Amino acid sequence: MKQYKNYVNGEWKSSEKEIKIYEPATGKELGTVPAMSQEEVDYVMASAKEALPKWRALSYVERAAYLHKVADILMRDKEEIGAILSKEIAKGLKSSISEVVRTVEIIDFAAEEGLRLTGEVLEGGSFEAASKKKLAVVRREPQGLVLAISPFNYPINLAASKIAPALIAGNVVAFKPPTQGSISGILLAKAFAEAGLPDGVFNTITGRGSEIGDYIVEHKAVNFISFTGSTPVGKNIAKLAGLRPVLLELGGKDSAIVLEDADLELAAKQIVTGGYSYSGQRCTAVKRVFVMDSIADELAAIVRDKVNALKVGQPEDDADITALIDTKAADYVEGLINDATEKGAKPLNEIKRENNLISPVVFDNVTTDMRLAWEEPFGPVMPFIRVKSVEEAIKLSNASEYGLQASIFTKNYPRAFAIAEQLEVGTVHINNKTQRGTDNFPFMGVKNSGSGTQGVRYSIEAMSRLKSVVFDTE
Ligand code: NAP
Ligand code: G3H
Repeated sequence: MKQYKNYVNGEWKSSEKEIKIYEPATGKELGTVPAMSQEEVDYVMASAKEALPKWRALSYVERAAYLHKVADILMRDKEEIGAILSKEIAKGLKSSISEVVRTVEIIDFAAEEGLRLTGEVLEGGSFEAASKKKLAVVRREPQGLVLAISPFNYPINLAASKIAPALIAGNVVAFKPPTQGSISGILLAKAFAEAGLPDGVFNTITGRGSEIGDYIVEHKAVNFISFTGSTPVGKNIAKLAGLRPVLLELGGKDSAIVLEDADLELAAKQIVTGGYSYSGQRCTAVKRVFVMDSIADELAAIVRDKVNALKVGQPEDDADITALIDTKAADYVEGLINDATEKGAKPLNEIKRENNLISPVVFDNVTTDMRLAWEEPFGPVMPFIRVKSVEEAIKLSNASEYGLQASIFTKNYPRAFAIAEQLEVGTVHINNKTQRGTDNFPFMGVKNSGSGTQGVRYSIEAMSRLKSVVFDTE
């Protein structure tokens, strides 16, 4: 059993208090991580602030070289890191290794995107004659100290998607991984340590969000907060952040809208991979299906069979459905299942729970009085809501508090575009599942799904601010 430490100001540090991390699938202890005290957090913030001037003074090429080194180290260690990540969050082994490889791509992409950043020169343009003599040189400068907070479901990837853009833009970083995912976060930190970034540029803070979360968010040294996680925590961060800029990627209730002319085999395949990968624990998982009455029976039967074919089991066996992250999460999903069952929805698959392992189930005939129609399960359960028209599907889709993504399945592209225009979400996919990637695309939610835009270039832009220097040419 290993005792993991935080990486702070170029050193590995333990804390007086520790948190035990258990494997969700087996209950075995995986290791311990420090529970940082407020004084230790103060030291992280002070060290990072001290490292800022030298780091921001480096050229983009120099900062990019460090990031490429980090990426190379992660690529070299992908199997080793993936194996621990898989145990820590009960994610299939192959997907865990893919998460590390995808992280490598993001880091390399961010490094290269930094090299392409340019400023601009503007000429004065007001009605006053004198304005013609004015020039503004507009450049980007870092925000300062970026606090990066990632969720349990992508503890490495959704960390690096914040850290790499922050660093290339010249910021220094304090990274708080999810508690269940801290060991993976520390393994990511090991790559930064080995790459030899100057002391204090990249630091980790472990500890329970419920205990130190508010303290780190409110910390005066922090200039920018990049958070991915649940909507309630995101809202609290927005409140505590005050006037400091934030990037918030929060919960979702992504719809798949299936029209009469859709290729049903394709739609079913995308709905099942979209809804049940990593047991539905993805913000972008398909979380409800709006299907036209006339094709509902046929689609439901294909989806039912595909769901029955999903492999339920252990992460090391690459099962599609594995134990949920903790008992609270499994109880929550069971609550949604019970509510739907009691209110008359029809389960198309066997309902089964063994500890935190919940078998995948589709519910047909879900109605709007059921919690499953509105709440985010973050588990392997999906509602089919039968609709009579596209207008009804759009209306119900937009009635959600969330607005992350949606999918439309149809062969009629102009119609799909017209529907996409009416959906209150950040991204609409046509004939594909809802998903974040590719990672250079903008990724954003509206309403309770977040604020601000992620995606490599967009994150760099968010984590840097414009500064103008204005002068008269004559
Ligand atoms: P969470 O409970 O909100 O936790 C996310 C992160 O916030 C963790 O690192 C957590 O630390 C930390 N945290 C908790 N309380 C905090 C506080 N008061 N101040 C600052 N940080 C605090 O979310 P989760 O359970 O890990 O992830 C699932 C949720 O995230 C779902 O709602 C999902 O939809 C959403 N999500 C959204 C996206 C997206 O891009 N839109 C992506 C992934 C996940 P601890 O672990 O120590 O509590
Ligand atoms: O869980 C939220 C992630 O941003 C989803 O990413 O669509 O690539 O699985 P993904």
